[in-house]
Amino acid sequence: MNPRDPEYYNISILPVRDPRRVVAATETWFAAHQRLLPWRRNYDPYHVWVSEVMLQQTRMEVVLRYHEAFIERFPDVASLAKASDDAVLSLWSGLGYYRRARMLRDGARYVLARHKGVVPHDVGELSQIPGIGRYTAGAISSIAYGHRAPIVDGNIARILSRLAGIDEPLASPALMRAAWREAENLVEASRSPRDFNQGLMEIGALICTPRKPDCTSCPVRRYCFAYAHKRTESLPRKKIKAETRDMNVALYIVSDRRGRILMRRESGALMTAMLHLPHGDTSLLSGAPLRVTASQLLATFRHSITTWRVFFSVYKGELAGSIHDDGEYEWIDPDQLSNVPHPSYVAKALALM
Ligand code: ADE
Repeated sequence: MNPRDPEYYNISILPVRDPRRVVAATETWFAAHQRLLPWRRNYDPYHVWVSEVMLQQTRMEVVLRYHEAFIERFPDVASLAKASDDAVLSLWSGLGYYRRARMLRDGARYVLARHKGVVPHDVGELSQIPGIGRYTAGAISSIAYGHRAPIVDGNIARILSRLAGIDEPLASPALMRAAWREAENLVEASRSPRDFNQGLMEIGALICTPRKPDCTSCPVRRYCFAYAHKRTESLPRKKIKAETRDMNVALYIVSDRRGRILMRRESGALMTAMLHLPHGDTSLLSGAPLRVTASQLLATFRHSITTWRVFFSVYKGELAGSIHDDGEYEWIDPDQLSNVPHPSYVAKALALM
C-alpha cells in the first residue's frame, strides 16, 4: 500500500467498527449499485416472498427466468393457494428442490386462511407460516415492509465473519449464532433496513465472494477486520468436512413394448415425490429392491449424493413376474423426463443409454 494513501496510516488503528458507519456506507452503496430486479419495482410482499424462496438454493440468473412467469400465473396469495401440486411443480420444473414449491403453496394456503391473504409483516407471525424460517421471515419483514429485522444466510454469514473477525467454521452453529448477533446489532443502527439488508446481500453476491473478494470495490473495507489483517482468504474458517463413504448401487432400466421405462416414486425423506429408477439392494433409496432377471450391464458411473460417493451400475433388466400396481411405479416415456421431477443421477444414468 502507498504511504500517500490515507488508509496506509489508518491500518494500525483499525478496525473502527461503528455500526452506524458500516450501515450508512452499505445503504449509500446499495442505493447507487443495486441491480434492478422484478420484485424491487414495488416490493410487493408476496413477490418478495416468492423471490426469497426461489433464491434459497438457486442462482439469481436462473431465478430471473422463473420469477416473472410464476407471478404471471399466480399473481397473488389467493391464486397460489388454489394451485394443485402439478400446477405449481410444472412452473417450478428446472428450479430444483421441489419441496420448496409445495411448501410455498402450503404457506399461501395458511396466509389466505389466517391472514385473509395479506402477508404479515411481523417476524413472529411470518415464522408461523409453513416453509418460512428465520431468514425468510426477516427478509420479508425488512425488504417488503422496511422493519428492523436482521437476516443471515450463508452469504451474509461470510461477510460478517470477515467484517467482524468471527473466526469460526463455515456453516457452523457458532458462526451462525455470532453472525445473527452481529446482524441484529447492525440493523438496529440502520435508517433503511430494506436497503441495508439487501445491500449486504448484494455485497455478498458481487464483491465479498467466497474466493478472491474484490475488496477495492467494497464500501465497508475500512471497517473490515479481515481486510485490515489480510485474512479475507482465511475467514470464515473452512468447513470441517464430513467423511465421504462409498456405496455400490445397481439401477435397472426396464422397458415396456412402447419404449417407456419403469420408474418409482420415492416416499422417503430424501428427494420426496421424485421419480427414481428401480434399484437393487441399497440403504440409500427407500422401497423394496426390484426383482429382475436376465440383466445385462450397460454402463457404470460415479455420483455424489450428500456425503456418499455412489458407484452406480446400470443394467438392462427384465421384470421377474409382474409389479403390483400400487401407484408406486410409473411407466415414463424417456422423452418426457424433463416434465417429471427426478434427481440428477437419473438424468445421468439415462444419458448413458
Ligand atoms: N439473494 C437472496 N435474496 C436476495 C435478495 N433479496 N437480493 C439479492 N440477492 C439475494
